Amino acid sequence: MKEKIFIGVAWPYANSHLHLGHLAGAYIPPDIFARYHRLRGNDVLMVSGSDTHGTPITVTAEQEGISPEEVIDRYHKSFIESFQGLGISFDLFTYTNTENHWAITTDMFLRLLEKGYIYKEKMRALYCEHCHRFLPDRYVEGTCPFCHFEDARGDQCDNCGKPLDALELINPRCKFCGHTPVVRETEHFFLDLPKFTEPLKEWVADKTHWRPSVRNFTLNLLNEGLRGRAITRDIDWGIPVPVEGYSDKRIYVWFDAVIGYFSASVEWAHNKGFPELWHEWWDLDKPCRSYYFIGKDNIFFHTLIWPAMLMGYGDRQLPYDVPANEYLTLEGRKISSSRNWAVWAPDYLSRYDPDPLRYYLTVHAPETADADFSWREFVERNNNELVGTWGNLAHRMLTFAFKNFDKAVPTPGELNETDQGIIMQVEKAFETVGAELDACRFRSAISQVMAVAREANRYLDLTSPWKILKSDPERAATATYVALRVIDSLKTLFLPFLPFSSQRLHEYLGYEGDLFGQQEVAEFQENSHKHIALTYHYDYQDQDLWKPSELPPGQLLRRPKPLFRKLDDSIVEEELARLG
Ligand code: MF3
Ligand code: ZN
Repeated sequence: MKEKIFIGVAWPYANSHLHLGHLAGAYIPPDIFARYHRLRGNDVLMVSGSDTHGTPITVTAEQEGISPEEVIDRYHKSFIESFQGLGISFDLFTYTNTENHWAITTDMFLRLLEKGYIYKEKMRALYCEHCHRFLPDRYVEGTCPFCHFEDARGDQCDNCGKPLDALELINPRCKFCGHTPVVRETEHFFLDLPKFTEPLKEWVADKTHWRPSVRNFTLNLLNEGLRGRAITRDIDWGIPVPVEGYSDKRIYVWFDAVIGYFSASVEWAHNKGFPELWHEWWDLDKPCRSYYFIGKDNIFFHTLIWPAMLMGYGDRQLPYDVPANEYLTLEGRKISSSRNWAVWAPDYLSRYDPDPLRYYLTVHAPETADADFSWREFVERNNNELVGTWGNLAHRMLTFAFKNFDKAVPTPGELNETDQGIIMQVEKAFETVGAELDACRFRSAISQVMAVAREANRYLDLTSPWKILKSDPERAATATYVALRVIDSLKTLFLPFLPFSSQRLHEYLGYEGDLFGQQEVAEFQENSHKHIALTYHYDYQDQDLWKPSELPPGQLLRRPKPLFRKLDDSIVEEELARLG
């Protein structure tokens, strides 16, 4: 039966390019998941967008001496290019600076306020007397009271992941001038999280399918007891507070960003010409599973705040799973933009193909523990596994068939036990790999596919059709057919992970048409302004492509080319020299 699958993907702050840590943590996994479910014929809605508000944006704008709009335009465009280059197939990648998003955020704020889930309170906040302003979130840094990390920000500690109140920082300092701030009183709106503690506990209780790290982190916070969270700020960039008398404040970026999952779904439906279509993924009485792909620093907002907001709003689908990833380190060190210890997506894409990165960041994903990206291992895995095991298997059989069987899939004779054995193995993989993908265990899933490719190579070592081409042409034809059919199945098994090379292989095997839809950058006009967004078009509903090959004998092949490029060892030194 066809299922509805909602895929929410973390909204990247539009204040820097994407780097490999973002890709491994939050962007490649949901694309694998989306492609897999689309192949199964399920109705996927995958949305995200640029997070354009809050102090991450204004800090960058101030540091560079440009306007926030210039910052977000630059990086929003960069994100879209990176996602296109990597094939991250969002149904919609928009941004939070749309009228639609502002209106929906305003509505949600007012509804929660009306229902008594938002309250007003005077609070003490840090103020820089040198810069003459309050220092919310990223405007202040200091030592984390929990783990004593020295560069914790006012909103969160990047080291232990705990949400922070800036007043708790030890030795706070103004990000801009370094002065020690003073405490001043200011009034803000708060989300009444304590009111949700019991419903949240009940809701988390049966989420035994969550990754243990996500579940434990969430349960710990619930057991420690939730506090009210300020959801407005003393800044002038962001969505206005829809209550009179607060024109000098804005809604907190995190409050509006998570609403993006919902507002982007509404925008998507509107753009499609079916403005009510979003209900299918969001109404509580309609069956849908909602997945949120994020890095571990965002867990709090997705397993507690956003569910609380949805509960308070009412009648909306809550997350089914939040498969948050751990961190990716780079050459054994923490990724750092300011120290240029990062590999940027646009740089990577200017030099290499997307599939090898998708492969490496999946087979070596930070799913249950931090993982390290090393250029040496990247080159080795590309050369040994993608080129050596999988690419060679496909290329040598396609070339062999193209040359010796009239550029067509040969017609097999009777299949013997060895033939049936390998066919059965690959057929079984659709179930086992599918189960891993369903459970968001991508690392294990891709390893299992590669293991089948290894088995297929062993099959060819055993049968060696090139050795018996003259002496036993019928046996040679059979083994060649079996190998091609297994390769055709492996193509499908690799599809969610390696969409570009699998599509090319599909063509070499003689098929017509695209296995996936098309990504397109579209321009949308609202009342007063235009914005660009990344969209995805496809049309293969009611098909289940996730199944073993039935490669027709006689099908004409196309002249094959290698699926992957061997990378020279020298790039390791070259790339290392670019760091730091
Ligand atoms: N912009 C945030 C970050 O980069 C993530 C926001 S995710 C969403 O950490 F939930 F707000 F959408
Ligand atoms: Zn200051």
